[in-house]
Amino acid sequence: MQVPFTRPYLAGNELLYIEDVLTSVCQGGHISGDGKYSRMVHETIEKTFGARKALLTTSGTTSLELATQLLDLKFGDEVIVPSYTFSSTVNPVVLAGARPVFADICPDTLNIDPDEIRRKITKKTRAIFPVHYGGVSCAMDEIMEISADHKLSVVEDAAQAVNARYRGRYLGTIGDFGCYSFHETKNYTCGEGGALLINSEDPEILERAEVLREKGTNRNKFDRGEVDKYTWVDIGSSYLPSDILAAVLYAQLEKLDEIQKMRMEIWDTYNRAFKPFEERGMIRLPVVPRYAEHNAHLFYIIFRDEMTRDLVMSRLKSSGIRAVFHYVPLHSSPMGLKMGSRKKDLPVTEEMSSRLLRFPIYAGMEHEILEYIVQKTISILKELE
Ligand SMILES: Cc1ncc(COP(=O)(O)O)c(C=O)c1O
Repeated sequence: MQVPFTRPYLAGNELLYIEDVLTSVCQGGHISGDGKYSRMVHETIEKTFGARKALLTTSGTTSLELATQLLDLKFGDEVIVPSYTFSSTVNPVVLAGARPVFADICPDTLNIDPDEIRRKITKKTRAIFPVHYGGVSCAMDEIMEISADHKLSVVEDAAQAVNARYRGRYLGTIGDFGCYSFHETKNYTCGEGGALLINSEDPEILERAEVLREKGTNRNKFDRGEVDKYTWVDIGSSYLPSDILAAVLYAQLEKLDEIQKMRMEIWDTYNRAFKPFEERGMIRLPVVPRYAEHNAHLFYIIFRDEMTRDLVMSRLKSSGIRAVFHYVPLHSSPMGLKMGSRKKDLPVTEEMSSRLLRFPIYAGMEHEILEYIVQKTISILKELE
């Protein structure tokens, strides 16, 4: 049996809505960005999650780029980021000429440690980019308090955290900006896609976001009939996905809770099955603080050391099960080292990333497959005990 690590789930109406977009062309419809389905997705994200404004982008990466451009960072500014994340959290900071300052993570949630943020603040700090790892919320009250005390912006990297909450509030709607990913590895997908959530009350920020997203033009204003022609007004890029992709995403968002429930059942099954090994001190399972309602984006086990993790990974692989490690910490990556970080700078990050193994999790996973993974893992764990 071959078990993939992840597999995109089709919610049902994707083809119907794609066909609708394509046939609408004959009646004057559009397949470019900001068509009917893009508008419906924007409305769904705003109503369901409570974002003041949502704007679809071509990826989680470009939503982070757009958020960063809206911060107007200058050369020498500093942004505090976890190192235990994907390069997309940090690339926009570097592209803006600013300096990412890597902070260590908490050993329980593997999210950025608020005490580390406090330690790393300097006169040059302008923003904090918390990443909600695996859809489990960062300690947002503390992070928002720090940002208020030091007048820093907060960009939530909620790429993995769509439909997850912190004390009842949806992730991505708490900081100044929230960034979602709809890549095929995420809970809700259109292949490649993302969204920028703008939570500020400032109308100028919203207007600027629309302009930067539309190649630096005021085209959105023109489309709404607010100006009689559109023109170049700022430095921007093209961040709109085609309405064909928005149609796919709309079909996924229609099944928001159903998809989450399917993932949650898998997450709970793993958690229940492996709990006895945690109780005997052999492994550690994901920690979900009381303030967090996660979205079952990831399930992982932390082993006692890297050697045991690698051994379990290769034993699962020989049984056809793809279980995988996660981020190579950015501060110790070739690019991080080039930028002046040193390998031993962030001990918790180094330690946790070397011992973590992620298990297959995707909506629509067949019951027999789940049972096969659980039984194989239990027998490997028993042998290692
Ligand atoms: C934490 C985090 N941020 C950003 C991204 C980038 O998202 P995308 O692949 O949609 O560009 C990812 C993707 O895996 C991610 O895990």
